[in-house]
Amino acid sequence: MELERELESGKAKDAAASVGKQRDGFTTALGVIAATLGSAVGLGNIWKFPSITGQNGGAAFIIVYLISTLLVGLPVMITEQMLGRKARKDAISTLRELAPKKQPWWLAGAAGVLAAFLIMAFYTEVAGWVFAYIYKSVVGGFLSTDPAVTSQAFVDLITNPMQSLLWQWVVLVVIGAILMMGVSKGIEATTKRLMPILFVLLVAIGIRSLTLEGAGEGLRFLLQPDFSKVTWTTVLVAMGLAFFKLSTGMGTMITYGSYFREEQNIPGTATKVMLADLLVSMLAGIAIFPAVFAFGFEVDAGPSLLFITIPAVFASMPLGNIFMVLFFILAGIAATGAMLSLLEVPVAFINEKMHISRPVATVITVVLLALIGSTAALSSSTLADVKIFGFTFFDLFDYTTSNILLPVGGLFIALFAGWVWGKDRIVDALTNSGALKNEWVVKAFYVVIKFVTPVLLILVLLRGLSII
Ligand code: PHE
Repeated sequence: MELERELESGKAKDAAASVGKQRDGFTTALGVIAATLGSAVGLGNIWKFPSITGQNGGAAFIIVYLISTLLVGLPVMITEQMLGRKARKDAISTLRELAPKKQPWWLAGAAGVLAAFLIMAFYTEVAGWVFAYIYKSVVGGFLSTDPAVTSQAFVDLITNPMQSLLWQWVVLVVIGAILMMGVSKGIEATTKRLMPILFVLLVAIGIRSLTLEGAGEGLRFLLQPDFSKVTWTTVLVAMGLAFFKLSTGMGTMITYGSYFREEQNIPGTATKVMLADLLVSMLAGIAIFPAVFAFGFEVDAGPSLLFITIPAVFASMPLGNIFMVLFFILAGIAATGAMLSLLEVPVAFINEKMHISRPVATVITVVLLALIGSTAALSSSTLADVKIFGFTFFDLFDYTTSNILLPVGGLFIALFAGWVWGKDRIVDALTNSGALKNEWVVKAFYVVIKFVTPVLLILVLLRGLSII
């Protein structure tokens, strides 16, 4: 009896600790950068960025992307982190607390929690393929220089319902286990270890790729500006990508901002993360394209570049097997940091708002995801014929999140900050109450978030809804 009561009160204390005053958070400036960069760097860098860049004019696209990042991605990232640190709560509660009574701005946070689930549903599936490829490239036996063979291997994997589900569950268990350890001991500690490894692997594979004979053509493909390919659509694609890349528009950065240290320089941190994320994207392009061209392969977009072309490319080079293992480990690391931040949005919400302990909140989230995610996992097999608006579940989740939910979330967050929360609070929050001498940066930021970002986001949204 006594023991039981003690256990009970111990449990209550645990729950209180994770809900109440001693809120877990990032402990060092480096930890903040590692976790935030871990979120930004993801599968988006490994195949979205390089292939979209390749198709849209190479360096010309990169210039457009950079401008989009400065006007759309970065301002929303700064805003989310600012609001999160101010309220120190999960995404929904942050907006509820900071908004005037009776104004439903918290709905933007709720859209974020929904977006987190939907992105995770397909993201865990792609990450599952990456994990499967790490395993397969270690045990060997599936290297082939013939894309027809690597293509068959990929098709065999994705059309096998049991394998698809199994690898998705492996991913969910890994992410769940890290999240259970908490913000500082789980997210911060993991990303701090993984991020340097990711850079080393990228540079190593980049050097290998660049030193192949005929690599120059791939580099030219990536870096030669071709402005004739830049159209109005390209600009909108760049804005959508900038948004997805920086993990904005869905409460991730609000949630992470709520764990930031009081003295963190938010505009400075966000800018560093944006630049480092761009560097990773460029390095990924340098690792991929020279090798693809050196061996005369076609540049495919999306999953086929990653899972069909890349294995064939590695099979063509000396020591290719080792580089292939390293490449998929790299992709696995990138996906892991991003997924931690995605899952943290619902976990923080369930933990704090519903007063459920962190481990239980994590289990609830993982189980829900296994259910929702299974529809995406089975999109190439059992559910291949189930179409909604002409999309399989996988494509539906991908399309609606990037093109609709994230821009909507970002739009409302920008409108809230610029028009409701207001200039004085923004200046106070981003200068750390005057401690930082960055007032002109903050004022420029204010103009962008109030006028420029919302207009651009409305355009992205109209395109997502096929209105323009
Ligand atoms: N930024 C991640 C990537 O590039 C994806 C992501 C989107 C992560 C939204 C969190 C939130 O892959």
